[in-house]
Parts: sequence; C-alpha cells; structure tokens
Amino acid sequence: MAAALPFCELHLHIEGTLEPPTIFALAAEQGRALPYAAPEELAARYEFANLPSFLELYYENMGVLRSEHDFAVLADAYFARAHRAGVAHVELFVDPQAHSERGVTERTVLRGLQRAIDDAGARFGISAGIIACVLRDRPVDEAERMLDAVLAAAGETGAPLLGIGLDSAELGFPPHRFAGVFDRAAEAGLHRVAHAGEEGPADYVREALDTLGAERIDHGIRVLEDPELVARLVRERIPLTVCPLSNVRLRVVDRIEELPFRELLDAGLLVTVNSDDPAYFGGYLDDNLAAVQGAFGLADDELSRLARNSVEASFAPEARKRELLGRLP
Ligand code: ADE
Ligand code: ZN
Repeated sequence: MAAALPFCELHLHIEGTLEPPTIFALAAEQGRALPYAAPEELAARYEFANLPSFLELYYENMGVLRSEHDFAVLADAYFARAHRAGVAHVELFVDPQAHSERGVTERTVLRGLQRAIDDAGARFGISAGIIACVLRDRPVDEAERMLDAVLAAAGETGAPLLGIGLDSAELGFPPHRFAGVFDRAAEAGLHRVAHAGEEGPADYVREALDTLGAERIDHGIRVLEDPELVARLVRERIPLTVCPLSNVRLRVVDRIEELPFRELLDAGLLVTVNSDDPAYFGGYLDDNLAAVQGAFGLADDELSRLARNSVEASFAPEARKRELLGRLP
C-alpha cells in the first residue's frame, strides 16, 4: 500500500495546505472578521475555472498568516497529515512576496516554518527543506529583493533554505525574465526549480531549463507536445513533479483519465506524484496516489517506481536518499 512506501513530496505549496477551519481559527485568534459565516461557506467557493481563478482565492486566504506562530500552526498541520500519507521527506514551496507585501517579513515566514520543520523531524522523522518561489507575474526587481531577504533570513536563523522556485500565473509570464535572479540564487548555493508546462506551452519548459538552469520542472505535463524536449528530459534525468488532482481541479484536464500519466511514464520520464495545494484540490499525497492508481491501474511495482523516482528527484542529502531507498522493496 502507498502508505508503507517512503515518498518524497517535492511540489507542495505550504500556503496551499491552509484548510478552511485553520483560516477561521487563525482569524479568531487575531480578532479579525472573515467575509464568510463558517468554514463550509468558504469551502463551497473551491470551484475553479483555471489557475488564475484559484490564485485569487489562494492569495486572499493567506491574509490570516501574519506571525511566526501562524506559519508554524499551518506547517504543523500539514506535517501531521503528510505523515499519515506516508511522506518521509518534503521540499515545501513558500511565496515570500505574497507575505512581504502585507508587511510580514521573510524572517517571520522562515522562522515559523523552521519551528514546524524541527518538530516534524522530532515527532515523525520527516526531513524537510524550503524552496522560496518567485511570483512570475510580479516585477523582476521585487524578485531580486525577495532573494536577498530570504538569503539574509536563512543566514540569520539557520532555516533550511534549499532552493528557489518560480510559480503563480503562468500564461503570458515566460521564465526568461528571471534568469538573473536564478543565476544569483545558484551562486548562493541554492537549487533551482520552476513551474512550467502546466497551463503554459512546452516552450516554457525549454526556457526554464535553458535560461533558469531549472533542475526540476513543476507540472510539465505539456512536454509531450515536443518529442525532442521529452528526449532531452529523459537523457538529462530532469524530474517532473506531476500533481494529478490539481490538474483536474484547475481544469487543465476535465477528468483524471485524460491526464497523459501513462504516456509520461512510458516515455521514460522521471515522473513524481505530488499534491500542489491539497487544501484546495481535494487531497493530500495519498489521495493523489490513490487517484492515479485508480485511473491508470498502476501495479505495485509501478507505485514503487514512483516512490523511487521521488527519492532520486529530491535534493535530500545522499545519506538520507540511501536510507529511503533502503526502505523500498
Ligand atoms: N501557486 C500555488 N499553486 C500554484 C500552481 N498550481 N501553479 C502556479 N502557482 C501556484
Ligand atoms: Zn504548484
């Protein structure tokens, strides 16, 4: 069963784990009113036409994240749920620009996450790191400032900053604009990943590789439109972090069976399964694995292959990777 295999979750927006009851609990602690009478009324709005329509609510809801405590509460709840899902290692995304614009500093964000990461290690044996994402639909100079601020905050706090990522609205926002920011991040020793080929074309995937030096592609399901690009990803062992329930809920496909999941696997790509924004998309990692198992009839050895891929695709230290691989059949 999925839960017995050690999975690495490599595409998880921590703000996308903000469940409606937690939004209400944090707002109540802060003495703030919400424009909804109850969590159920908010949850009823979780019907999305596309990525931008989801992002609007996602950015609005994260307004309840204001203090170190709030970020720790958020991430504690995620780690408890991820443990039940069989997650052994997480590389979580965070969107610092969406918080700094509300006056919440990068230090506050990283400290809160660091507290939860330390607790998850002690309570569940889960290892974790942080990937700070550039909001691609915002100006480049803002991304430059975010990079400086997270590097400084990680230096001061010792928070486990692993990498830089690229997210938010994709169509019309090609990766190359952020080449300079990603260059500087690499010089500072950070890993580089990028969302590409979710709603945007396969060309954005090539650009993410060529101009940002992306080591992993988040989503990437549209690469199949470009066989030459597929051959390159296979040759260079560039992983794809696929998020099946997200693709359905954001209407990239109408039904999960329409995802080219088998085609991606059969092409020899290093496919991993992840949950993206589980509070919004109907499920955590175990739910995503169950969904692809159901839709594509994955055999046990194919499920083990997905777990193995997730370990290989992770930025975990080599000793940790060996330990996790040792737990696979
Ligand atoms: N931010 C949070 N979730 C995202 C997604 N699925 N794509 C792009 N940006 C995001
Ligand atoms: Zn994502």
